[in-house]
Amino acid sequence: MDIISRYRIIFTYLKSLKFRILLVLLAVGWIPMTLIAVSLLGSYRSMAVSSRSTEIQNQCRILANQLLNYHYLEDPSSELINGELTQLASMYDGRILIIDQDFRAIQDTYDLIEGKYVASEEVIRCFQGQTSNKVTAQGFIEIAIPVKESEAETAQGVLLASISTDSIRDGAETLKGNASVFFLAYGVLVTALAVLLSWLLVRPVERIRQGLHEISSGHSTEDLAVKNYTETAQISEEFNKIVTQMRLLDESRQEFVSNVSHELKTPLTSMKVLADSLLMQGEAPVELYKEFMGDIAEEIERENKIITDLLSLVKMDKKAASLNIAPVDINDLLELILKRLRPIASGKNIEMVLESFRPVTAEVDEGRLTLAFTNLVENAIKYNKENGWVHVSLDADHKFFYVKIMDSGMGIPEESLDFIFERFYRVDKSHSSEIDGTGLGLAIAKSAVLVHKGAIKVSSQLGEGTTFSVRIPLNYIA
Ligand SMILES: Nc1ncnc2c1ncn2[C@@H]1O[C@H](COP(=O)(O)OP(=O)(O)OP(=O)(O)O)[C@@H](O)[C@H]1O
Ligand SMILES: [Mg+2]
Repeated sequence: MDIISRYRIIFTYLKSLKFRILLVLLAVGWIPMTLIAVSLLGSYRSMAVSSRSTEIQNQCRILANQLLNYHYLEDPSSELINGELTQLASMYDGRILIIDQDFRAIQDTYDLIEGKYVASEEVIRCFQGQTSNKVTAQGFIEIAIPVKESEAETAQGVLLASISTDSIRDGAETLKGNASVFFLAYGVLVTALAVLLSWLLVRPVERIRQGLHEISSGHSTEDLAVKNYTETAQISEEFNKIVTQMRLLDESRQEFVSNVSHELKTPLTSMKVLADSLLMQGEAPVELYKEFMGDIAEEIERENKIITDLLSLVKMDKKAASLNIAPVDINDLLELILKRLRPIASGKNIEMVLESFRPVTAEVDEGRLTLAFTNLVENAIKYNKENGWVHVSLDADHKFFYVKIMDSGMGIPEESLDFIFERFYRVDKSHSSEIDGTGLGLAIAKSAVLVHKGAIKVSSQLGEGTTFSVRIPLNYIA
């Protein structure tokens, strides 16, 4: 594995949900514990030192009273007191000095400065009645207690104690050692739990990814069903909807292609039959040639219309970006369409009426709408009866314009109404068998209306007539 793919794997992992969850779990597990440990260990030593010095101070105070009771300052030979002094000093690993009124050390448990003068700041302040208690930079607790009657202001002597805090430091070290072992064990446990939990939590997401991969690579056609979390259940559901839509789309595409091939083949087959029969005749009369050629020209015309319609449909399906939007006078547009179709209508003696309630100008693609309305009016004529009528009306409000195309024709059976806008759909063959058509006109009309964000509706009464209602926004909505 080269270095780039190694980095890519690491980078992918760092960006993964699993890693993020792991980080959160580790933080939740580690941070509070670390804070507690650090603050406890940090305060342990100062707490121990302060409780030790209070304890010693109390002991020294008792001793100072005893010094008075036994008149030790006048005669420091009391074995009882000396014994207690030595015991206290050795118990706390320290040194005790007794200083008399002349600042002379009359007792030193270290036996170093007996008889020497001690006139430190603490001692002087202590003679004025002040107790002092401090911890030196070298880690010694130093206590100075005045030896005096309880109500006296000045002291008759001073008891100086200097105690090492080494034992406290050693205790703190031991505690730290034990805490580290505990902390290590705790850390391993928390990390293991975090890894396990992050894996468990992300597993449903991982299963979704796996499922999607299997479907996208074509190894599975089953629905996605990861129901562990509400979210994964919803994702599965939405995804299955998309897949269903795509399958339907694929089916309709296949159907469309087969319909197109069939429709394009029909005129070709007719032409082939016509041409073959002429060829087989040998010496055919010119009239027959003319007649067959006329039929062939008709089939070519049919083929041409199908191809033109297909191209319009493909153009309609393209994105709205290819629209050619401009203000168009809709009254003029409809008038022109009716004028063009009037010759066909008069062939069946069908009366055509255009009723405009007001002048309407709208932002539309003129070409596409002309195609749509032409198809609708053409149908109204095509599927009409002799001496029938076609009624086109135009109205508008502040938002939309409305076009209605009503006819007195054969109508559409109710069960067909849901399908007439589908490509290549024609109401059963007997209904319109003599009437030429491919079944693309309404699909084109609907696409053209929808691309304008409009709506198209149909209502029909079999044997009485049909009404198509179109609604289109006056201003184009991008
Ligand atoms: N006004 C109408 N009255 C009765 N039936 C209609 C009417 N308009 C459409 N239909 C029915 O709906 C079917 C679909 O119409 P559509 O315009 O899509 O196709 P077509 O007219 O058959 O062919 P094309 O328009 O592509 O030449 C028609 O075949 C016809 O059966
Ligand atoms: Mg049509």
